[in-house]
This record gives sequence, C-alpha cells and structure tokens, in this order.
Amino acid sequence: MEKVIIFDTTLRDGEQSPGASLTSEEKIKIAEQLERLGVDVIEAGFPIASADDAKAVRNIGERIKSSVVCALARCRDEDIEIALRSLETAAKPRLHIFLATSEIHRKYKLNKAKDEILKIAVEKSAMAKKHINDVEFSPEDASRTEPDFLLEISKAVIAQGVKTINIPDTVGYAEPEEYGTLIKFLRKNLPDNVVISVHCHNDLGLAVANSLIAVTCGARQVECTINGIGERAGSAALEEIVMNMSVRKDFYNLTTNIVTKELYRTSRMVSSMTGVPVQPNKAVIGTNAFRHESGIHQDGILKNPATYEIMSPDMIGVPESELVLGKHSGRHALKARLENLGFQMGDEKIEQIFEKFKKLADKKKEITDTDLIVLAEEEEIKTDEPVYTLEYFHIISGSSTIPSATVRIKKGDKVYEDASRGDGPVDALYKAIDRITGISPVLKEYKITAVTGGQDAQGEVAVSLETGGLKVPGKGVSTDIIEASGKAYINAINRYLLRKNTGKAKYKGA
Ligand code: KIV
Ligand code: ZN
Repeated sequence: MEKVIIFDTTLRDGEQSPGASLTSEEKIKIAEQLERLGVDVIEAGFPIASADDAKAVRNIGERIKSSVVCALARCRDEDIEIALRSLETAAKPRLHIFLATSEIHRKYKLNKAKDEILKIAVEKSAMAKKHINDVEFSPEDASRTEPDFLLEISKAVIAQGVKTINIPDTVGYAEPEEYGTLIKFLRKNLPDNVVISVHCHNDLGLAVANSLIAVTCGARQVECTINGIGERAGSAALEEIVMNMSVRKDFYNLTTNIVTKELYRTSRMVSSMTGVPVQPNKAVIGTNAFRHESGIHQDGILKNPATYEIMSPDMIGVPESELVLGKHSGRHALKARLENLGFQMGDEKIEQIFEKFKKLADKKKEITDTDLIVLAEEEEIKTDEPVYTLEYFHIISGSSTIPSATVRIKKGDKVYEDASRGDGPVDALYKAIDRITGISPVLKEYKITAVTGGQDAQGEVAVSLETGGLKVPGKGVSTDIIEASGKAYINAINRYLLRKNTGKAKYKGA
C-alpha cells in the first residue's frame, strides 16, 4: 500500500483560528504529542509573524526528532531568513514558502502580473534551496488559479529543486469533482518524484471531502489540523482524514503513519490548550460519536457492536468511562493508569496529580479515566514561570444578599488576599481577583460544561478575556463550578501575563 504523508498544521493554520492562542510551552507540548501520534510533518509556526512564533519553531525543532519540523514564510527575503534561522537546530527541517497565484489575488492583493509572480517564485525557491534541502512551495489560492499557470509555476519551482507542491484551496471554494480533476491534471504533468500536497479549508464544509478525493487522484501529502481548527471555518480535520483511510482501507488502499489510538488524547489536548471546543456531534472524536440513544440502536450494539459502529472507540483511544481508581488507590496504581492513558510524567508531576486525585476522590465516589485525563492535562499545561494559583475563596450569595467574595491567591512565595462585591457570585470572585492582580480584563466568553458524568461530575469552565488588545482563553476544572470559574479566570490571566511581553501578533496576510 502506498503511504500518504500527514502534514499537521495545527500549530500554524490552526493557531490562526479566531479565538485560539497558545503559549510557547503549550506549542511544545502539542508538538510532542503530534510526534507520538505519528505525524510526518509538523508545521510549527510562521516565524515572521512574531518573536514568539519564531521561538516556538526553534524550541520545537530542538525537541522533535522523528517528525519533520516545518516553518512557513512568504516569498520575501526577510521571511525566509527568519524562518531558516528558526529551523537552524531542527533535526529534520523543512521550509514552506508561499505566494498567491490566482487572478483575484494577483490583481487586488499583490498588484502583480503573472510573469512577475513567476519570477519571484523562482528567485525565492532558488534562494531557499541554497540553504535547506527540503523546500515546499504553495501557490496560494491555487484552486482559483488558471490550471495552466499553476502547472507553469509548479514546473518552474521544481526546476529549482522544490520537492513538494502544495495546492491550497485557500478559501474553501472548490467542489470535490473539480478539485480532483485539478489534482489529476497536475499529477499527470509533474515529475513522479515530486509530492503533490493538498491543503483544504472548510468554508463550504468540504475540506475533508476535497482532501480525500485528492488522494484518490494522486496527492500523497495531506495538510490538516487536529479537530479541523484553522482560519475562518477551519481546515480539514486530521482525525477524519486518517480514519477514512483506515476504516475504508478497502476503498482507498492507502496507509498513513498515524497511531490512531492517540487521536482522542491529541484532540482533547488541542481543545483544552487552544480554548476551541469540539462540537459534540463532531465525526470521530466528538463526545456523541460513540453514544447510542435509540432503543433499536442500543439493542443492536449489545448484540453486536458492528451493527451500528463502523469503528470501535478503542481504535481512537477513547477511554472507557469505568471505575478505575478510588480513594484507597496508591501512587503506583495512579501512575500505571496514567501511563495507560498515554501520559508519561516524572515523579514530581505524579505527586502533584496524586494530591489532586486524593482531594477529588474525597468529593467524588467514582474516579473515571476521563477524570484522570482532566487532572493530568491540567498539570501538563502548567509552566515553570511563577504564576497565580487559587488558594482559597469564600462566597456569600443568595436571593436577598448582595453577592460578595473573599479570595486568596498565591504567586511564587507571595500570598494575596482581597474581597469584593459583584452582580453575582462569579462576578464578585472575578472582581476580587482583579483587585489583587491589578488587571481588569473584559470577560468576552464564559461557558460551563460537564466533562465527566454523574451528579458529582467535574465541571469545566472556559473563559475568554480581553485586555490590552490581547484575547486569551482560560480553563478550570472542579466539582464546584465557582472554583472552576475562579481557576479558569486565573488560568487566562496567567496566559495573558506569559504572552504580554512576547509581542505576539497574528498573521494578517501576505
Ligand atoms: O490556506 C492557505 O492557502 C495557506 C497557505 C499558507 C498554504 O494556509
Ligand atoms: Zn490555510
């Protein structure tokens, strides 16, 4: 079976999702998880966008050994130089350069004629090739470019040594049949040793369908993101592409390097770190993907799961929500179970999770795998920088009282305490925290979800705060929703403080 290269751009195109933002530490954690997942190429960032992006690409390049680490650059000297510098220490570096080729982009965005575009693409490919062996070229908005011009520019950059030609459906405009025809045309006319890649956006809900038809027409690299996050309506979802090729091997006769058992965990990690939730009915990894509501379906599943399940939850690593540990379990059992769930952690982290686990076990009768994942993820997103942590809070609230909150928070060795009134208990808590931090962000979004089952479920609160022009997400988990709210708020403030000095600005276009 031929192999399809999986190129993950969660950390670059995915991070361009409205509302998504990641710290450098979170990017490293996600990159390490993508490597465990078996991704062939990790697009780690767009170094010219900010010093933070450049640093993230460098850090990821230093740690990732088996996947190729890729950096994006426009066809401009400064972009290419900074991207190359960020890749200096990577074991397997790739430079991805792009330049818009469609008539509408040539005319309105770049104000350049076809021959000028061609000249720039050739010059910058040659410049890149002088410094790095693995170069990918993307004619941006390829699906709206005249096919003959697309072929001409592809041949010209291949002559400079480019090995991968990516054909982006930048604005999600293509229909599967026409996109497939375009890929077939290029495959027929380009040298066999050049990999044709596809990169589809989801504006019309066709990103996955377009990527899949492309592989049947000869594309051998698919660019995609975890949970399908990306610009506007997002990108092609990695988990959907991979599971199509895996479940329907009989149809595609193609393989990938992806360790499908790592899909669920990767999806949870990306959602929790970016603050972008996964819709419940999302294919493959949504919480409803393996739930059966109707009696007829439940009956069929009990008789034989294959009646209504075309893949088993186990294939993608969905944890079984059974009682796994209780309050009498020890550190060893906890460590072994976490390892089973894919968390490799040192003794110090295990100790911290163990303490939280014991506290949770006092409140909750049943500790499920999902509970453990939540605790472990919380620990994983911690940073080494001194950050605020919630120590204690006390709320007074009721229908005939003005809600008030007293809060104690810690940063490094310092402990701070303050109190405030508010419109409700959460508002009072947030105002008391603001008095301590001296930051008064605008609360843009606030959402509570039950992340584990039962009456004693853990609630996850997701917030989005805006302050000083930066929008940051935050998450907190607890069986007490006021505590989860406080943790989420403090988590967002910590992210804000971590990002404040990095001058992170989102890419605004070529
Ligand atoms: O969608 C797009 O065209 C891109 C390119 C930079 C590959 O993201
Ligand atoms: Zn894109």
